Amino acid sequence: MCGIVGYLGNEPVYEKVIKGLSRLEYRGYDSAGMAYIEDGELVVKKCKGKVVDLENVVGSVKPLSHIGIGHTRWATHGVPNDVNAHPHCSGDGSIALIHNGIIENYASIKQELMNRGHVFLSDTDTEVLVHLIEDVRNAEKVSLFEAVRLALSEVHGAYAIVVLDKSNADQLIVAKKSSPLVIGIGAQDDFYIASDATPIIEYTKNVVYLNDEEVARVDRKTGLTIVNIDNQSQTPYIQALELKLEAIEKGGYDSFMLKEIHEQPRSIEDSIRGRVNLKTGLIKMSGIDEHEERWKTAPRILIVACGTSWHAGLVAEYLFEDFARIPVEVEYASEFRYRNPIIYPTDIVIAISQSGETADTLAAIELAKERGALIFGVCNVVGSSISRATHCGAYTHAGPEIGVASTKAFTAQVVVLYQIALSVAQKRGVISNERTTRLMAELGSLPLKVEQVLKTNAITEAIAEIYQHCSNALYLGRGYSFPVALEGALKLKEISYIHAEGYPAAEMKHGPIALIDENMPVIVIATEGASYEKVVSNIQEVKARKGQIIAIVTEGDKTVKGMADHVIEIPRTDDSLVPIVSVIPLQLFSYHVAIMRGCNVDQPRNLAKSVTVE
Ligand code: M6R
Repeated sequence: MCGIVGYLGNEPVYEKVIKGLSRLEYRGYDSAGMAYIEDGELVVKKCKGKVVDLENVVGSVKPLSHIGIGHTRWATHGVPNDVNAHPHCSGDGSIALIHNGIIENYASIKQELMNRGHVFLSDTDTEVLVHLIEDVRNAEKVSLFEAVRLALSEVHGAYAIVVLDKSNADQLIVAKKSSPLVIGIGAQDDFYIASDATPIIEYTKNVVYLNDEEVARVDRKTGLTIVNIDNQSQTPYIQALELKLEAIEKGGYDSFMLKEIHEQPRSIEDSIRGRVNLKTGLIKMSGIDEHEERWKTAPRILIVACGTSWHAGLVAEYLFEDFARIPVEVEYASEFRYRNPIIYPTDIVIAISQSGETADTLAAIELAKERGALIFGVCNVVGSSISRATHCGAYTHAGPEIGVASTKAFTAQVVVLYQIALSVAQKRGVISNERTTRLMAELGSLPLKVEQVLKTNAITEAIAEIYQHCSNALYLGRGYSFPVALEGALKLKEISYIHAEGYPAAEMKHGPIALIDENMPVIVIATEGASYEKVVSNIQEVKARKGQIIAIVTEGDKTVKGMADHVIEIPRTDDSLVPIVSVIPLQLFSYHVAIMRGCNVDQPRNLAKSVTVE
């Protein structure tokens, strides 16, 4: 899960590559590099660190070349250092290559190539690929385009690659399998290549998403040519991008994460608009309507996802069981794919993913597809691999999420899953019209309620100030709030590096209670609803052991206020909608703690936004 960019056209490449890499830096930031052709020579600049470090390496004299490639890395094979940074070059120094993905059989290919005299400089799988292409080109006496195709037919794994050859400054070769890649076609035979559309949107709206196992040649003389791995010609399908440039900029906020937290009233509204009709009392979702019979009769729903999306899946489990009375199993995609799971052709599998590129989720989808299940995707990125691999689905309309910590994607996912659960409950005739209408109205009031919670920011910041130096934190919730406890803990650990655990509140007495002392902040979601009394008892258990309670309570609450050390009030809503409102202060809390500890909230250490490797 690295970011790759390429440019070939009428303007100098440098600015385009640097800007493109900065936009893709969320995908990985262990090292950065670029290659271009100048005076007939292949020039490679690369270093450990971020794009800004690469700019320092290039220095004040910027290249004037009109062709080049760039890479920002999330390390898989080989530690982050200058040598392992991309681009990697062939043995004779004529070909440079950038890669996002993993070549699984690289070790055996490397051994074979070494036996034939190839010498490797790095520990990466990518360097093996560029040597293989060189080897094939020399042995078969074929063009670079053909050599790439032949070489790729020998490799196993995932790749999105761009290849640059110093003997041809008018051409780039591109290929993809299981890693994302998009080609932008500019007005004057300018070509832009990138892992996603964000580096392209500024220059053109016309794009071609390459399919798996396609190899493309972009050439200033002959334009775009695509073949599949079996060398059959493919017709490029040009699509118009809908992305807006403002959506991928910080818009006055210090970080993407803070901007994205504050965008939630709008992203929630966008994820409801056009689906809920209060007049007719109906929910319109084409992915459900088109497969109505399957949804009516499915004996079971399986949900596969990772990380925050998995937490949204847990909320969905409660929703489907409560509204639609369908048994649900929520699975970590990475575990699901490596068991021998029981999947019936009558099952419906919901795959949830913000990026739509998560490798484990994609693999789980493929497995469930092979077994005949109907696959429904809940994705944020339009045209992403998961959205294309599923039979049907519903997009979350959260807009681009760039901060590595997922915030607005989570609330949008829950909102979309909520509508799916309600719609299916209606179709199965297991929910009353009165209840549906009330819940639909509550759903519609969420943007305003979330707006109201965002106004508690100053209180949350003051609490963060007190606990910024803690080394552990416990998050507790019951029922619908249990997944929120998990999500709050994940947010804190991933951006502030504080160890945090989420637990069902009642489970605390079965172990974690041993951790509680006067230094332990315990964040409890204690809103009014089905489990309120029980959670109050859990708070008392913590207080009896001198733990520090930070409680998220319903506005006007007096009981918890009387026993907690700090409270954050949120507006009253139906139990089933509490996760969408109560997660906001937890997002803000982790944001403030991380900022106070001097952490980079948008690019936390060791992480990347889309995990396109296993
Ligand atoms: O793009 P996806 O939703 O498939 O990503 C899944 C996880 O990698 C992601 O939610 C991750 O856990 C986030 N960093 C959490 O904030």
